Amino acid sequence: MERSPIIAPSILASDFSRLAEEVHAIEGAADWAHVDVMDNHFVPNLTIGLPVVQSLRKATSIPFDVHLMITDPQRWAPAYAEAGAYNVTFHAEACDDPVALAKTLRAAGAKAGLAIDRDTPVEPYLELLPYLDTVLIMTIKAGFGGQAFMPELLDKVRDVRRRAEVNQLEIRIEVDGGIAADTIEQAAEAGADAFVAGTAVYGAADPAEAIRKLRALAAARMGLA
Ligand code: DX5
Ligand code: ZN
Repeated sequence: MERSPIIAPSILASDFSRLAEEVHAIEGAADWAHVDVMDNHFVPNLTIGLPVVQSLRKATSIPFDVHLMITDPQRWAPAYAEAGAYNVTFHAEACDDPVALAKTLRAAGAKAGLAIDRDTPVEPYLELLPYLDTVLIMTIKAGFGGQAFMPELLDKVRDVRRRAEVNQLEIRIEVDGGIAADTIEQAAEAGADAFVAGTAVYGAADPAEAIRKLRALAAARMGLA
């Protein structure tokens, strides 16, 4: 199955006082806008929540890739699907019944994603792939942007890609944390096909140009160039 890369800039690294403009700056170049929701419980950081996503949804047509770093996602995640998120990803560490929540999200019209944090093994979750549209492998410890990429976590990407190929599953394998021009190729090589990038996009003088560069690097490693 031929896969083209998804580039998903994280608005966490953008200027929150100008959110709509910051999203407009990546429209046409990016595939998804990655929205990091943090609750100061699952992770120490606190960012934005449902009202902001609802308002921003009206300001752009780019698909939203919502990454919920929150406790009790069963309670909160469906509302993000109802707010028009394209993909809603919740954390394995925060959820007792990922299959049930994935079914709920799909029924609400969203893609369902499961995120695996730095210290969580992926093996126990490989059986769940048929119920998921996206697996997000953290390449840092979830909670903050601007951290250094951890290449050893790509073994989890390899495990998911292997299982997806053996079982011929259509699933996006997303990496998040420290993705930039000097790390995206190794992530693509490991089998990732969706790439979150915060600092590397919004820290660049020209975000759209940074996205194009990341896309070209990923595509070349995915055999698409
Ligand atoms: C961190 C978030 C990431 C973050 C990535 O927990 O999930 O999406 O924005 O930022 P960079 O690309 O700067 O590592
Ligand atoms: Zn994220």
